[in-house]
Amino acid sequence: MGALSAWSAARVIGANDRVRLGLIGCGGRGKQDLETFLKQPDAEAAAVCDLYDPFREKAVAMTGGRAQGVTDFRRVLEEKDIDAVIVAVPDHWHAILTIAACDAGKDVYCEKPLSLTVVEGRHMLDAARRNRRVVQTGSQQRSGTQYAAAVKLIRDGGLGKVHRIRAGMQRNIYPGLKASEMANGPIASFNWDMWLGPAPKRAFDPFRCIYNFRWFWDYSGGQMTNWGAHHLDIARWIAGVDAPDEVAGFGGRFALTDGGETPDVQEVTYRMGKMVVAWTTSEIAAGKGFTLDIFGTRGVMTLTRGGFTVAPETEGKEKKPLMEALSMKGNDLDGAHARNFLDCVKSRQRPNADIEEGHRSAILCHLGNISTRLGRSLKWDPVKEQVPGDAEANAMLSRPYRAPWKLA
Ligand SMILES: NC(=O)c1ccc[n+]([C@@H]2O[C@H](COP(=O)([O-])OP(=O)(O)OC[C@H]3O[C@@H](n4cnc5c(N)ncnc54)[C@H](O)[C@@H]3O)[C@@H](O)[C@H]2O)c1
Repeated sequence: MGALSAWSAARVIGANDRVRLGLIGCGGRGKQDLETFLKQPDAEAAAVCDLYDPFREKAVAMTGGRAQGVTDFRRVLEEKDIDAVIVAVPDHWHAILTIAACDAGKDVYCEKPLSLTVVEGRHMLDAARRNRRVVQTGSQQRSGTQYAAAVKLIRDGGLGKVHRIRAGMQRNIYPGLKASEMANGPIASFNWDMWLGPAPKRAFDPFRCIYNFRWFWDYSGGQMTNWGAHHLDIARWIAGVDAPDEVAGFGGRFALTDGGETPDVQEVTYRMGKMVVAWTTSEIAAGKGFTLDIFGTRGVMTLTRGGFTVAPETEGKEKKPLMEALSMKGNDLDGAHARNFLDCVKSRQRPNADIEEGHRSAILCHLGNISTRLGRSLKWDPVKEQVPGDAEANAMLSRPYRAPWKLA
């Protein structure tokens, strides 16, 4: 008899059962995720894992000492009693952990951005499907009632014809950020080589490590992937497309002097059928902030985590409004997203931010960065997941892994 596949080995969880979770990565987001899940009556944390003792110990304490604290993620995946894992490590670890968890028969809540590269995302999606795992991308805006209502309103023609969306993240952190932990060197127990994992070997640098990994290409894609995974995901949902037709990006790390690599100024434009979507990163001026503005012939929607407002367009000298002004408040995004994941773990339905949506939205962000770094626009073949006729761009759709780590 052949080996049990992961999906047949996993336990069947009844509607009244508690879902036993393992948290991998107890940093800023991991602790928030833990707090969110522990508020759900049918979730409990059986294990929490982190390489950095203070964060792991804090997470154990948050469970009232009930969760086991471990440093090696493989111990979480070996634990038969764990139904699902939360992957809240830096982006360069998402693929290895999600694939290993799916192969071990666990459902997965993987933080956004789903992947570090396009090829990783494809392997992750394949692992989820072949093991019949529920995998929720941690793009909690997908569980926002205002986002769902906005998508419906726009698709129903409520704003008139919509052909333009702008999305972005603007703030002022000039001249840059500082190391947030271990600024004077790693604590004795910290396994920096394990933190690096599949990424290239380097001497310890506190600025590359906790939180600020986001500004280094080896571990992340900067604000393009960090916030693009939220707002461009919604823009793509509104546009109703799987992928862009064409992408053009410009930018760089022009002003910040903190040693980071990813752009502090970046503009990326996407053509998605008859929709033009523009992405802005600004780390050097907050200006008049925006996250998502949707421009229609009858009104303009400002869509944020707090809710949405619609300002009517007007016509004629008398400025007659073309529609009623609208507004809607938002819900608890994190709570709703965790709830949706737990419900899907039980029902085996696809969650609100199913891994396939996470993969497609991460592709938008990765292509934005590749275009920016190459300094040329790119077309995209969503079936082959390739940039037609551009070997240099295609080489940037994946990364070599440092041994002994392998993608699949
Ligand atoms: N959904 C959201 O709104 C949201 C918000 C913030 C962060 N995030 C995502 O969460 C992830 C983590 O971000 P963060 O800000 O919490 O980073 P962080 O640096 O604060 O925390 C990451 C933790 O992972 C640990 N870690 C790294 N490699 C590990 C390994 N191999 N095994 C065990 N532990 C390991 C680190 O020691 C660290 O404590 C990122 O992918 C980020 O994009 C999502």
